[in-house]
Amino acid sequence: TIMHLFLLLILHATAAVGQIDPAHCRYALGMEDGRIRDEDITASSQWYETTGPQYARLNREEGEGAWCPQGQLEPSDTQYLQVDLGRLTFLTVVGTQGRYARNSGNEFARAYRLNYSRDSVLWKSWKSRLGKEVIQGNKNAYESVINDLHPPVIARHVRLIPVTKPSTAVCMRVELYGCPWDDGLISYSAPEGQLLMAPGYPVASLNDSTYDGAHERRRLLGGLGQLTDGVVGLDDFLVTRQLQVWLGYDYLGWRNDSLGAPGHVEMDFLFDKQRNFTSMKVHSNNMFSRGVKIFSSVTCWFKPRLIASWEAEPVTFKTVLDDRNPSARYVTVPLRRRAARALRCRFFFADVWMMFSEISFQSGGKPLPSSSCFSLLSVGCVFARLYFLPDPSASGRPDDGNTPILIGCLVTIILLLVIIIFLILWCQYVCKVLEKVDFLSHPDVGQVWVSSGGLLISSLRSPPVASQRAVQDGVLARPSLVSIWMTQPSLSPPTACGGGYAEPDVTQCTPHQGFHGPAPHYAETDIVRLQGVTGSNMYAVPALTVDSLTRKDISAAEFPRQQLVFREKLGEGQFGEVHLCEAEGLPEFLGEGSPLPDGDGCSVLVAVKQLRPDATSQARNDFLKEIKIMSRLNDPNIIRLLCVCVTSDPLCMVTEYMENGDLNMFLSQREMESTLTHANSIPSVSLSDLLHMSVQISSGMKYLASLNFVHRDLATRNCLLDRRLTIKIADFGMSRNLYSSDYYRIQGRAVLPIRWMAWESILLGKFTTASDVWAFGVTLWEIFTLCKEQPYSLLSDEQVIENTGEFFRNQGRQIFLYAPPLCPPSLFELMMRCWSRDIPDRPTFEGLYQALRPHVGP
Ligand SMILES: *[C@@H]1O[C@H](CO)[C@@H](O)[C@H](O)[C@H]1NC(C)=O
Ligand SMILES: *[C@@H]1O[C@H](CO)[C@@H](O)[C@H](O)[C@H]1NC(C)=O
Ligand SMILES: *[C@@H]1O[C@H](CO)[C@@H](O)[C@H](O)[C@H]1NC(C)=O
Ligand SMILES: *[C@@H]1O[C@H](CO)[C@@H](O)[C@H](O)[C@H]1NC(C)=O
Repeated sequence: TIMHLFLLLILHATAAVGQIDPAHCRYALGMEDGRIRDEDITASSQWYETTGPQYARLNREEGEGAWCPQGQLEPSDTQYLQVDLGRLTFLTVVGTQGRYARNSGNEFARAYRLNYSRDSVLWKSWKSRLGKEVIQGNKNAYESVINDLHPPVIARHVRLIPVTKPSTAVCMRVELYGCPWDDGLISYSAPEGQLLMAPGYPVASLNDSTYDGAHERRRLLGGLGQLTDGVVGLDDFLVTRQLQVWLGYDYLGWRNDSLGAPGHVEMDFLFDKQRNFTSMKVHSNNMFSRGVKIFSSVTCWFKPRLIASWEAEPVTFKTVLDDRNPSARYVTVPLRRRAARALRCRFFFADVWMMFSEISFQSGGKPLPSSSCFSLLSVGCVFARLYFLPDPSASGRPDDGNTPILIGCLVTIILLLVIIIFLILWCQYVCKVLEKVDFLSHPDVGQVWVSSGGLLISSLRSPPVASQRAVQDGVLARPSLVSIWMTQPSLSPPTACGGGYAEPDVTQCTPHQGFHGPAPHYAETDIVRLQGVTGSNMYAVPALTVDSLTRKDISAAEFPRQQLVFREKLGEGQFGEVHLCEAEGLPEFLGEGSPLPDGDGCSVLVAVKQLRPDATSQARNDFLKEIKIMSRLNDPNIIRLLCVCVTSDPLCMVTEYMENGDLNMFLSQREMESTLTHANSIPSVSLSDLLHMSVQISSGMKYLASLNFVHRDLATRNCLLDRRLTIKIADFGMSRNLYSSDYYRIQGRAVLPIRWMAWESILLGKFTTASDVWAFGVTLWEIFTLCKEQPYSLLSDEQVIENTGEFFRNQGRQIFLYAPPLCPPSLFELMMRCWSRDIPDRPTFEGLYQALRPHVGP
């Protein structure tokens, strides 16, 4: 298993790096070890066959020991060694060495220049941040000298051009270091950055000083520069990461009123091939005290091929502006898997200034940076590689024979193993909790943690020291450790799900209970039990209320069972089923004040929840409890308990059902009403219908909240509709196979509606009225997308859980649902407020109702 672990580790090390970090992107690219093939190394000339370009490999002694260009090199000569890296590469380091040839050679390059190209046609010469082109090389024939490239370059072809002062013979061996450039971006264009001049402050120059393309009519064209150099800017844009550069160096910035088209900045991005884009990450400054903010929205157009026009339908993303936290952050813009070779994005100003320091693109099946204990391990591994494997400067004067190299390799391997074993032991100490957790690979996500031992994770009551501290600091600095805890509730064992009903604390149900300060308490987390015995969800009600109910009798009347005529099965749970039935004579039975609509005949459609005869006595109790809870509900927008059959087995409860089925079905079969679709055969709904529905749901939820009931599974699939578009909130969703993909499944059982759940419900198992508000926001979103799409449809379940962690960390990396095109902006703002991280920032149902109501006519 050590080998297994080791392999995973290596795999993970390559998968976990989302953004390029120049400090870690320093892998030897294959001159020395031969991964770069002979035919990919060429030269402008060679002196002899035996000093051809294929011998220009660092630390190797083949042929005459190096590549040497023909003759004595004059200062005016341009000879070069060219390497084709086979793919776009982020190049950070160059190592060079002279010709030693077992003490018979003494030629080396004292200095060299570097040219690079992404397409082998257009060559650019490398310049340091201070504008110098010449790089210092070797001082003797045997020592290798490595030079960091500041700035790094993104290229596929590289030329090393030896430079001499007096004319001499020159020979070179080289190695290149870096990592693959998976973004595939080959150029961006943007307006030139500007000077920030404000009275009382130094002048900041927000230009793109390392841009390697052209400057034309105040635009940057055809190159890459600071936005792809892997250096993210600091919170204060006046402070720079490099020394000896000017203020504002790390950022490219624009002022809102000085551009051709005011109000936005337009950037074009060109890629090496067509890609399916999942997202774009823009690292942006947010120093609002100086008038700098992240963009307010961005609209991107796509071009599938180079010779094509921009596709008509753009993707638009609105950000959440943040007036409290001035830190620079990555803003993730979902791009909905659109296929493109080129992108054009308009970033809209939110303030006077907009400043970016990095932009990266995620495409294809590349996972979100997954985080787990293994990231720590892999970082360790990367360090190990850095320090022990490819350290070109450490190679001293080569000896005869291979023995020292062999010994070196062995020592390195042993050291690596020792480190790995140490890391594993350490990890076991820190992550004791993982002892019985299986580690699976998932094609989309990288790795997924799945509980194998059932109760293990959730039964552990105190988190390990390290993560507890991280949690208490309020900053989950290491996503790796903590995300394991985050997925904890979803790992609840299957045995817990059928048991029915968890009695929450009364305090948990108070609306507006603030989530103050730092410490979510994992120790308080309970196994989440949502499902009632018939598989439908159970409302969470304050424990006290239930106790007082126990003393009362069931208020609903007993209905003659033989008058229920079975029509179809709606769903099932562990101990029961939900049937759709016709109830003959029910209106008369209920008599005056019956909540039923005036039916035409004497039979009505009802939903019948029925306990199976083999149910345990615990399940029986739960079922009776559910009846008591249901019998308290009396609101025009909540499904009501009509009657029961409890005098004989099987126990039944009969609730309303509505002929139009559920809102999800209803909307997904409809189109937006427009003047053009009148003749269309597809039925339509109008915007005011949608608003009317939203108001009714908020009204029903307002009622539940007033009783301190927590629904825990609000979604369109749980809203039933009648002919006049009256909505009643129900609780069947969870039991229905039709909607099983909306629930996060553990070992085949539907458990948690994670795409509708607030972060604190997923991470802490906390269900409150405020988490119902969150779900209401998602329900609104469903309504205004006409249920054509599942929320976060681009994310896998595991990624949704990862994203929940981002909601908790709140560093601007969370992915929000996008604004539905039909949705009025004010309404989307309301949705966004429902998804506030802090509970006090979320609206109440009363507030939502008041906000929505005016949108609907009298
Ligand atoms: C290096 O690139 C510059 C353009 O920046 C070009 O003028 C020069 O000819 C190139 N040299 C070689 C050897 O490719
Ligand atoms: C960027 O601004 C600095 C400072 O004003 C200046 O020295 C430098 O030449 C500029 N670079 C480019 C590429 O315009
Ligand atoms: C630039 O931003 C300021 C402050 O937000 C605003 O008053 C001004 O109208 C904006 N100018 C343009 C051209 O958008
Ligand atoms: C993009 O997605 C489409 C369909 O989803 C697929 O056929 C195509 O191969 C993908 N292209 C790339 C470059 O991944």
